[in-house]
Amino acid sequence: MPSLSHFAALIEPSIGASAKRVGQPLSFLYQPLAWPTQGVEQVLGQLCIEGYAIVSLDGMIADSRRRMVDGLKVEADSQYFLRGLDQAVLVVHGRHSQEDDAKAEQRRRLILTHSVADLGQHPTLPNALFWNPAGIPFLEACGRCGLIEGTVAVTGGTNVFGLFLELGFDAFHLSRSARIRLPGGRPVFPQVPTQTPEDVLKGHGLMAGPVEVLDAQAGVSVVTWMRQP
Ligand SMILES: NC(=O)c1ccc[n+]([C@@H]2O[C@H](COP(=O)([O-])OP(=O)(O)OC[C@H]3O[C@@H](n4cnc5c(N)ncnc54)[C@H](OP(=O)(O)O)[C@@H]3O)[C@@H](O)[C@H]2O)c1
Repeated sequence: MPSLSHFAALIEPSIGASAKRVGQPLSFLYQPLAWPTQGVEQVLGQLCIEGYAIVSLDGMIADSRRRMVDGLKVEADSQYFLRGLDQAVLVVHGRHSQEDDAKAEQRRRLILTHSVADLGQHPTLPNALFWNPAGIPFLEACGRCGLIEGTVAVTGGTNVFGLFLELGFDAFHLSRSARIRLPGGRPVFPQVPTQTPEDVLKGHGLMAGPVEVLDAQAGVSVVTWMRQP
C-alpha cells in the first residue's frame, strides 16, 4: 500500500519552482510546513483556496436524498469545473463527493472523513488520502503531503464548504441553474436556506465578479466571488 511519502512524491511535479530546485533532496518535500511559527496567514497566503459548486435556484447542491440531480449536470458547467480542477495542485472534498471524469484518479486529493484519526491512505485511490480535520489542521495536512503552494480546489459538499468558509476562501466559483428548485435539499453552505449563498459569501469577505452565462438555454451561469484585498 502506498505511503504518505509516495503521495508527496506524486505531488512533487505540480508544486512550484521554489521547491523544485535542482538536486533538492526529496525528503525536503516531506517536511511539515513551519506551522505555526510563520503565522497562519503568511503560510495560507502561499496556497490559493478556491471553491466550486453548482446550485439550484434555492441554493442546493443536491436533492433531499443527497443525490446530484440531472438538472445540475450541465456540460458547460462541468467543463468550467474541470478546467479549474486541472489547474489545481490538490482537490479537497467530502466522502460522498467526487468528480467522475477520466482524469479523476490522477488528481491528488484529500477526502474528508471521521473514519481516520488524522490522515490515512485511501484503499483504492493511490493519489488520495483520507483526512479528518479534527485530527490534523489543513495546513499541516498539506505540509505532510509536501504541498507548499498552488491552488487548492474545494468541491464540497455542505460541511466541507462550511469548514473552508471559516479557513477562508480566496475565490468561490458559484454556478447556478435558474431552472431547478430543490426544496429540502442539501444546501451549498450550512447557513442556507436561512441565508442565501450570496449573503454567506459576502458575510465571509468575498465580493461578486460579473455574471458569466455558461448555457443560456439551460439557464446556467457562474459568478466568481473574490476575497477583498
Ligand atoms: N452541486 C454541486 O456542486 C455539488 C458539490 C459537491 C457535492 N455534490 C453532491 O452532494 C451530495 C453529497 O454532499 P454531502 O454534503 O452530503 O456530502 P460530502 O461532503 O461529499 O460527504 C459528507 C461526508 O464527508 C465527511 N465529512 C464532511 N465534513 C467533515 C468534517 N468536517 N470532518 C470529517 N469528515 C467530514 C463525512 O464522512 P464520514 O461519514 O466518512 O465521516 C461525511 O459523511 C452528492 O450527491 C454530491 O454529488 C454536489
